[in-house]
Amino acid sequence: MSSYPVGQFPVYRPRRLRQTAVMRRLVSETQLSASHLVLPLFVRSGRKLRRPIEAMPGLCQLSPDELVREAAAAHEAGVPAVLLFGIPEKKDAKASEAYATSGIVQTAVRLLKKELPELLVITDVCLCEYMVHGHCGIVRQGKSDGRVLNDPTLNLLARTAASHVEAGADMVAPSDMMDGRVRAIREKLDELGFAETPIMSYAAKFASAFYGPFREAAESAPKFGDRRSYQMDPGNALEALREVAMDIEEGADIVMVKPALAYLDILHRVKKEFGYPTAAYAVSAEHAMIKAAAANGWIDERAITLESLLAMRRAGADVIITYAAVEAAKWLAA
Ligand code: PBG
Repeated sequence: MSSYPVGQFPVYRPRRLRQTAVMRRLVSETQLSASHLVLPLFVRSGRKLRRPIEAMPGLCQLSPDELVREAAAAHEAGVPAVLLFGIPEKKDAKASEAYATSGIVQTAVRLLKKELPELLVITDVCLCEYMVHGHCGIVRQGKSDGRVLNDPTLNLLARTAASHVEAGADMVAPSDMMDGRVRAIREKLDELGFAETPIMSYAAKFASAFYGPFREAAESAPKFGDRRSYQMDPGNALEALREVAMDIEEGADIVMVKPALAYLDILHRVKKEFGYPTAAYAVSAEHAMIKAAAANGWIDERAITLESLLAMRRAGADVIITYAAVEAAKWLAA
């Protein structure tokens, strides 16, 4: 059966169902609610620290105590989950702080789960913030071409994920784009008795200029080269489907497409092809662009933010990771 009524009825007038808000809601195909939103937060050590991130207006690097306050306010506003990124005190060539029991993310997770047990805590699993060179994996000794060594990196990623879960994380989200990391993490978690802990994989993550402001926020810009040897070519849609298929096969529970707005076609195809729980990450520059235009009075921030989020839902996102989660939740409740 076709979904187009044209020709089937003598007079089809779509306007009939647009007359009142009640009618429009009655037949609306896509719902946006705060229950789908995840707020990313940046944590670093210290006390009473709120260090503003210049390229991401309204966002700060937070010390654990401030993180708890921020997370509590988000939860209060109706945001069910946070995604944690850590900025360590020191970086080295094997990302030691990424999987240290007393690392910043592990510390923050323990505190969050103690203070806000109802809040879903997801942790980003990657090494770039913890590596001196800023790449997402181990870099070949003596080379500075930005190539990372895939297989030797897997064990470090699995250890990192395990340390987050041992600290109490409810879900882990590997964002490194190494091949085989979902399986490595899954096996490690199962082995440690965390068979029930889900993995949200950054499955189709493109090598995107839209991550610029984030790299300032997380202090994770690569010191040489770029991430194109492990992140995806922005023109490749079929490869994105293969990446997603691989992560599902390896045990991912939620697959993510990133960035969001410029990649809604990918999101749509992923949802259609796999019918899997799917996430969209509205990344840092997407946020910065809206904030900048709004600050100039050029756009209606609220309307544009909500319309963008709705478009992600329509394209196939179940979960939306967005820096505007708290504002959106408040607007949706108003
Ligand atoms: C870490 C990571 C990045 C983002 C999330 N996890 C940056 C990158 O790949 O360079 C980007 C998020 C954003 O721009 O909001 N690998």
